[in-house]
Amino acid sequence: MAGVTKAPLRVAVLISGRGSNLRALLEACAEPGFPARIVLVIANRPDAAGLVVARQHGIATQVIEHRGFARRQDFDDALDRALSEAAAELVCLAGFMRILGAGFVRRWRDRLINIHPSLLPAFPGLDTHARALAAGVRVAGCSVHFVRAETDNGPIIIQAAVAVTPSDTPETLAARVLAEEHRCYRAALRWIAEGRVRVVDERVSIDRAEFPPSALVSPRDGVPGG
Ligand code: GRF
Repeated sequence: MAGVTKAPLRVAVLISGRGSNLRALLEACAEPGFPARIVLVIANRPDAAGLVVARQHGIATQVIEHRGFARRQDFDDALDRALSEAAAELVCLAGFMRILGAGFVRRWRDRLINIHPSLLPAFPGLDTHARALAAGVRVAGCSVHFVRAETDNGPIIIQAAVAVTPSDTPETLAARVLAEEHRCYRAALRWIAEGRVRVVDERVSIDRAEFPPSALVSPRDGVPGG
């Protein structure tokens, strides 16, 4: 509606480690007019380097150690409480290394997204780059997707691909894919925050997806319902 500015979407980010995707999201949210803001960062490990990144940006952080809970369900409930107290509307997993239980995933259905460093459904799970190289793939990449109970599974919002070169190691490939992860995650967040993303029959439809020109990003530009 003309003249009415919607409040930025309240986002929580869950991390376990380095936090480079968190940093990319924080930097996006710091841009004037970006339609989302990060209200809470939760780590399941007190030594997660991403906590420092969050604090540098003045963002509230919480450490909820999975080791402190006898049952997965209790850990999930503690996460859920913290997210509700922060009035989070969307949860972004960014290198979060705990599997969330089916109940949690159901409660946050279509409000919970993940980034994974492969072109899903290929190579879910760990050591994706080493496995991709061992399989001899010519193209690798990353995916941002809505989370479902099965790990690294769910409707795909955006993917970007990079060419694999003969000299690639898991480290060199990971570095090139990571640069694409950062671009994809912020694009996915923007689209969701702008209310342009819908899940229909377990497939994602995006109203007017745009992306800076690049050979291997999909969706790239303004295909209605793309
Ligand atoms: C990324 O490669 C992400 O796709 C995967 O874990 C890694 C986290 O990296 N799920 P960072 O902590 O965001 O730097």
